[in-house]
Amino acid sequence: MPNNVVVLGTQWGDEGKGKVADLLTSKADIVVRSQGGNNAGHTLVVGDKKVVVRLVPSGILHSSCQCLIGSGVVVSPEALFSEIAELNASGITDAEARIKVSAASSLLLPIHVAIDKASEAKRGANAIGTTGRGIGPCYEDKIARRGLRVGDLYDLAVFKEKLKALLDYRNFCLKNYYNAPEVSFDEIVAGVEQVRDRLLAMVADISAILSDARKAGKKVLFEGAQGTFLDIDYGTYPYVTSSNTVAGGCCTGSGAGPRHIDYVLGICKAYTTRVGGGPFPTELENEIGEGIRKRGAEFGAVTGRPRRVGWYDAVAMRRAVDINSLSGLALMKIDVLDGMDELQICTKYKLADGTVSELPPLAAYEYAQVTPVYESMPGWSESTIGITDFTKLPLNAQKYIRRLEELAGVPVVIISTGPERDQTIMLDDPMA
Ligand code: GDP
Ligand code: IMO
Ligand code: MG
Repeated sequence: MPNNVVVLGTQWGDEGKGKVADLLTSKADIVVRSQGGNNAGHTLVVGDKKVVVRLVPSGILHSSCQCLIGSGVVVSPEALFSEIAELNASGITDAEARIKVSAASSLLLPIHVAIDKASEAKRGANAIGTTGRGIGPCYEDKIARRGLRVGDLYDLAVFKEKLKALLDYRNFCLKNYYNAPEVSFDEIVAGVEQVRDRLLAMVADISAILSDARKAGKKVLFEGAQGTFLDIDYGTYPYVTSSNTVAGGCCTGSGAGPRHIDYVLGICKAYTTRVGGGPFPTELENEIGEGIRKRGAEFGAVTGRPRRVGWYDAVAMRRAVDINSLSGLALMKIDVLDGMDELQICTKYKLADGTVSELPPLAAYEYAQVTPVYESMPGWSESTIGITDFTKLPLNAQKYIRRLEELAGVPVVIISTGPERDQTIMLDDPMA
């Protein structure tokens, strides 16, 4: 019986991790975020209520669930408390009491947002298309060992000293390299002082909580953010985010050891989307893509940007299956393909030198030059919205799903037929 289940994105993010995490949380005692920050936008729909969580783990809608933010997460106090205020306003009044934050999590401060924006502006046509939330610069400071952590707030004098050193460097860059306005030390301190006590009251030893939970036989869901091809090492670098989004990241970012993970559930759409710049071999820049974007409401949950849309990419999925050691797949948004005459599945990439590959290249320049090789399958005209029984799906939808499963080489255990919790076909419950 799997007690420690990872839910992660296998594509370029926005696969529907929030829906699945929320769905499985009915059986989980704890949900933990291990990487990323408020660049994530995970949509949870219950009845006519829609909640988008960014930094807060998706377990928050279940009152008995503890929500943990691990050391691998970059935490903007401002974003955290504005999200908590939104949750309070929507009736979840115990959110703050149920969220625990690691003292080793990185503090994301306004200086990081300023650097993110200035750096994107400087890149011009080569901009990454970041969410502008300061995520990359905050991870840069962490890795450069000049960053601040949540635990630095215990001693305000220490915090101020470290902040001063950070701003000396970062403001020098802003002024002299980016030609952008500097960020005020006093304003950052004033902002942090407002929430310091509240944030420190949430601090806990996340890896110890996970260890105790394991010994007590509790169920833990590790909620990934972003997706496999936005991973800093394995994604389409440099058009990636700045954390390890693959399964290994959930161990380093939470303090759970690799042997303690029982099941890795990969979330993928029945097609592909991506927000921001970078290679996207199966992209559809035509009316077919436009139709999918419209039916799938493919607009970013964080920035509202239209998502780029393309056919399902089984080549990328092969890599995702391997590096995440996927146990099973949740196939999302099958209903968005309703009414299409024909569907294409990318099964191979043709590389620039004419060779054909079943795995994606790791070099970014090569990725940008691949041409997808497609196989075609007939679509279906019937509606699949809300179907909960696999055998009730149109035969061609069943065949499409089985073909994707065959290409991935791991079982499809969940099929999603709409945004709501109950619009789901559960073939095999990863938490059961
Ligand atoms: P996440 O970042 O992976 O959690 O995904 P997002 O929440 O950013 O984007 C997924 C979007 O698809 C959200 O608006 C969901 O409500 C919606 N969604 C999830 N599953 C389904 C589904 O099966 N069908 C449809 N039509 N929408 C879905
Ligand atoms: P969820 O968890 C989709 C993308 C940005 C940009 C790149 C770098 O909701 O799936 P960043 O701000 O992280 O430095 O941006 O990564 N990106 C996402 N795309 N879903 C996300 O999160 C994303 N988080 C970041 O669009 O291309
Ligand atoms: Mg999202």
